Amino acid sequence: MSDWRSYAVRLADQLRASGDLRSPAWHAAIAETPRHVLVPTVYQPPEEFYGAFTHTRLNTAEHLELIYSTTTLVTAVAPTKDGDVVGRSSSTKPDLMVRMLETLDIREGQRILEIGTGTGYNVALLAHRLGDDHIFSVDIDPELVSTARRRLARIGRHPHLAVGDGAQGWPAHAPYDRIIATCAVRRVPWSWYEQLTLGGQLLVDFKPHGGGNLVLLERKDDRLEGRFAARFAAFMAIRQPDNPDERPPTPWQPEFALTRQRTTTTPAEPAGAMLFLRAVMSSTQLRQRYAFDQQTRRPTAVRLAAADGSCCEVDLTPAGNGTWTVREGGPTPLWREIEHDYQQWCDWGRPGWDRIGITVTPETWAVWLDEPSNLLTRPPLPC
Ligand SMILES: C[S@@+](CC[C@H](N)C(=O)[O-])C[C@H]1O[C@@H](n2cnc3c(N)ncnc32)[C@H](O)[C@@H]1O
Repeated sequence: MSDWRSYAVRLADQLRASGDLRSPAWHAAIAETPRHVLVPTVYQPPEEFYGAFTHTRLNTAEHLELIYSTTTLVTAVAPTKDGDVVGRSSSTKPDLMVRMLETLDIREGQRILEIGTGTGYNVALLAHRLGDDHIFSVDIDPELVSTARRRLARIGRHPHLAVGDGAQGWPAHAPYDRIIATCAVRRVPWSWYEQLTLGGQLLVDFKPHGGGNLVLLERKDDRLEGRFAARFAAFMAIRQPDNPDERPPTPWQPEFALTRQRTTTTPAEPAGAMLFLRAVMSSTQLRQRYAFDQQTRRPTAVRLAAADGSCCEVDLTPAGNGTWTVREGGPTPLWREIEHDYQQWCDWGRPGWDRIGITVTPETWAVWLDEPSNLLTRPPLPC
C-alpha cells in the first residue's frame, strides 16, 4: 500500500474539479491523509436487495481505487430486531465530507466538536487542518472509539476522543466554534446550542419525520437558526438509549384493501423538500414503503399508510399523459392530502431545500420559507 499517496492526490484533485472542495487547505488534508489506515476492512452491501453484506479486507492494490474514491465505506453492521442487517458505522463519502467542511467555513484556531467518530477519517481531516488539540469527537460505540484512537495514533494523530451519547455533546470541553454531526437527528439537541460559541455554527442531517436534509444552524442569542443545504444528503440515524435500533416508532400497517382506483397528476415521488414541508405542516403523519417486483426486486410503487390504517399505493411508472395510477383504501383519502399539499408547494413556487429554514428554541422549533419571519408552522412545533 506504499503508493497510496498518488491515489489520495487524485481524489483531492477530483473533489476540486467537481467543485465539492474549494480551499487549498482541504485539498492538502485529503491528499495527505491515509484513508486506508483508518478503513482497512469494509462491509460491501448486497447486490441483491435481500442479499447479505460481505466483509472484505482492503489489502490489495486494487482496493486503493475503492478507498480513495467518493464511496461511503460501511465499517460496522448489526442485526435489527426485524431480522434485517443494517450499517452501524461507515466512513462517509469524501465528497460529502469535504462539502460539509467547506459549508461550515472552518478556519484556523477554531475548536470543533464532531458527533459520530466512526473510523476517525473526518477527525483526521480536521486535525490535519486545525491541529489535534482543536478537535473533539464522540461516538456512542466504545469499540469504534478505541479502534479509531489506535489507528489515528498510527498516522501520528492524537485528537480528543470520547465514548458518549453525542446528543449530550461534550460539555467538559465546550464551547466549540463548530459542531459537525455525522449521524441524523429527529430533534436538534439543545445541548448543542449551549456548547456553541455565540455566532458558532452547526451542521446536521435533520429528519424530524424520517425525511430531511443537512441544515446549517447558527447560534444566535436565544436560538439556533439557519437554512437547509441546497443539495440533498443523508446520514445514518443517531442511536439513542430510548431508540437503540434507530427505527422510527411508527409501525403502521395498512389495514384496508385498496378498493378505489383513479389517476393523479401529482408525481408518485414528489421532491424531498415538498415531502418535508408536508410532513411538518400536516396533521396526518404517513409511513412510506415501496412495493417491489418479485422477479427483478426493483421498486414498482410507493406505499403510504396512516395511523388509522388508511393506505394508498401509487405506481412509479407513469400511466401516460403525465398521470400516475393511485389505489386507495380506508377512511382517509391519503393521496388527496398529498395532492393538496403538492398544489400548495407549487403555489409557493416549488421551493427547493435552500429556501427552507428552521428556528430552534429550548422547547419548540419552527419552519420558515425564505426568511425567519415567514413562518410556515404556526404555532411552532414542540421539541
Ligand atoms: C456515518 S458514521 C460516522 C462517520 C465518521 N465521522 C467517519 O469519518 O468515519 C456515524 C457514526 O455515528 C455514531 N453514532 C450513532 N449514534 C450516536 C450517538 N448517540 N452519539 C455519538 N455517536 C453516535 C455511530 O456509531 C457511527 O459511528
